[in-house]
Amino acid sequence: MVCLGNICRSPLAQGILEARAREAGLNWEIDSAGTMHYHVNEPPHIQSQKTAQKHGIDISAQRCRQLIAADFDIFDRIYVMDNNNYRDVQKMGGESWKEGKVERLLDVLYPGEKREVPDPYYGTEKDFEDVFQLIDKACRKIIDNYCRANP
Ligand code: 4NP
Repeated sequence: MVCLGNICRSPLAQGILEARAREAGLNWEIDSAGTMHYHVNEPPHIQSQKTAQKHGIDISAQRCRQLIAADFDIFDRIYVMDNNNYRDVQKMGGESWKEGKVERLLDVLYPGEKREVPDPYYGTEKDFEDVFQLIDKACRKIIDNYCRANP
C-alpha cells in the first residue's frame, strides 16, 4: 500500500487489508510505504490512528518508510492511492518497475476510472473517516475477488 507520506492513507490501507485478510483466513504479508521520505520512522498520523481504532484496528505500531526498488521484487501487488503516487512509483521502480504489478486502489472498485483516495493530511476527522470507508470498501473487494478466483 503506497501513498505520498506513508502517515495518513497507506497506514490505514495496510491496517485495513491486514484485518480483512485475517478475517478471511488468509495469511498475507501486507506492508505500506511512502514515495517521499519526510516522515520516515514516524508513527501514523494521530487521526489515522484514532479512526482505525474506532473500527477496532490498531495501527499504532507502524512506522513510516520510503518505497524502495526491491519492493517490486518482494511484493506481488502494489496499490497506490492516487495518480501522483502512480507516476512516482513508476519513476522510483526504475528497472524493477513491472506494469501489471501496480494498480490504483480505487480501480479495484471502479476499473479504469483512475479515481483517487483523497489526501486527508490537512483535513477533518470526517475526511479521515471518509478515507477509511473508501479504503475499506476497496480492501473488502480485493479479498472478495481473490476468494472467488481461489475457491
Ligand atoms: P499521506 O498524506 O500521503 O496519505 O500519508 C500526506 C502526509 C504528509 C504529507 C502529505 C500527504 N506531507 O506533505 O508531509
